[in-house]
Amino acid sequence: MSTCTQAKRLEAAGQSHLLQFWDELSAAEQAEMSRDLEDMDLEEIDGFFRTAMSTSCQASQEKLDSRMEPVPVEVLGSVTRDRERLHSWEKEGLLRISQNKVAVLLLAGGQGTRLGVSYPKGMYDIGLLSHKTLFQIQAERILKLQQLAEREHKSQCCIPWYIMTSGRTMESTKEFFSQHNYFGLNRENVILFQQGMLPAMDYNGKIILEGKGKISMAPDGNGGLYKALGAQKILEDMEQRGIEYIHVYCVDNVLVKVADPTFIGFCVQNGADCGAKVVEKVNPSEPVGVVCKVDGRFQVVEYSEITQVTAEKRSSDGRLMFNAGNVANHFFTLSFLRDVVKVHEPQLQHHVAQKKIPFVDLRGRLVSPDKPNGIKMEKFVFDIFQFAKKFVVFEVLREDEFSPLKNADSNSGKDNPTTARNALISLHRRWVLNAGGRFIDEAGAPVPVSPSLKDVTDQTVKCEISPLLSYGGEGLEELVQGRNFRHPLVIDNKGAHELLKNGH
Ligand code: UD1
Repeated sequence: MSTCTQAKRLEAAGQSHLLQFWDELSAAEQAEMSRDLEDMDLEEIDGFFRTAMSTSCQASQEKLDSRMEPVPVEVLGSVTRDRERLHSWEKEGLLRISQNKVAVLLLAGGQGTRLGVSYPKGMYDIGLLSHKTLFQIQAERILKLQQLAEREHKSQCCIPWYIMTSGRTMESTKEFFSQHNYFGLNRENVILFQQGMLPAMDYNGKIILEGKGKISMAPDGNGGLYKALGAQKILEDMEQRGIEYIHVYCVDNVLVKVADPTFIGFCVQNGADCGAKVVEKVNPSEPVGVVCKVDGRFQVVEYSEITQVTAEKRSSDGRLMFNAGNVANHFFTLSFLRDVVKVHEPQLQHHVAQKKIPFVDLRGRLVSPDKPNGIKMEKFVFDIFQFAKKFVVFEVLREDEFSPLKNADSNSGKDNPTTARNALISLHRRWVLNAGGRFIDEAGAPVPVSPSLKDVTDQTVKCEISPLLSYGGEGLEELVQGRNFRHPLVIDNKGAHELLKNGH
């Protein structure tokens, strides 16, 4: 497209300011800017902006609150209340995995702004004894689960791992996996694909420039998944592999049970096309979305979109009324995803996040604002729940399954590397105790370790179990039963290693 045509197009869309520094750009910068502009559907972006702004105002937020209802018990399964059914659900899940019908899909296109790292969050080392990254832990859980399903059903199987990245995370994620030899997974079963990006806008709908020749762009939210599934032909790939069930999850939860057979079996046995895992939300201000119904349809109301008054409402038993905390673990059938991509995706509206967006001023100087000056528009992965024919909710224990990494240790006491590390250590310590192992101190005296589920802050006994050895605490008895261990202790498929004794 010629510069003149481009200028006319921008003028018609009210975005002429994007070319204000054009004459100062080098030929290479001009070429790059032209490419970026040509890729943009300005009319579509303007439409997104108008709809997103009109639905995000305070008045509609209040209206939303009054239309919310808690999750009805009929759709709810629970690891504590349905103990007698857990085994059957797990068996069902393992069967489907052994039949090569289950895939996992990781949402990893976020920018990790709150954690403050410049690389993808999955590459983060939370300081475990093994120094495994989040990606490695998840990869090893997939490997172990494949083995468990194979052993149970005596047939080789594979759980393909689809990883959604963005323009911000694609290259480094790709390189990281390749450097680490896909953590032992088969390379062709790790499928990376990229979501779309959208420009940041000011409150008047003007696209923001973050450099004289650079538009401020951000990934289009984890709900960008559905557009990408179509555009990148991922659904076709799933079809070719015979996949029927997909477990979608977020990158930052160190305790995530990737392709959890119990969750999958629960959804399958209930004939669900869509399901969500939740933990009980106990603190009204916890930054988790809540699964609920709005106008009779299932939805997640995000923590940024619920009012304080509604977040604090309590039921007669004293618990929060909206307590189905979304842990960002979702189940979809492939046929449901097909409908979503073909029919429903265009109906999904963007949510608005007000942000401090660095911009260049009229003189071309970069300004970092100290209060929000514009918006980013994002679709959310759970916005398709409303289209499900049969939606179910599975409640799990926070101590076993949810410890997200959102913040740096230095900027928050919550959801940071320390809390994530402690949660994993505490879980693994419980696995050792439950399998009949004990911890002793240097002098050989027993260390009083509480097997309490809530004991996630106690750092006195450090212990880590490789996912390659145990997916969910199973198979540890023969290694630990009746044995005393000094910590720090690492248990992997080569045995139990007391690190101090071994001079580490
Ligand atoms: C998310 C959930 C929230 C839930 C919480 C639990 C959404 C929209 N919100 O909140 O309801 O209670 O996790 O921890 O799911 N991502 C992309 N592309 C993007 C943006 C994000 O792939 O454009 C990915 C991130 O890499 C991450 C996940 O989506 O894996 C969640 O993103 P994040 O911004 O951390 O969500 P939260 O606000 O914490």
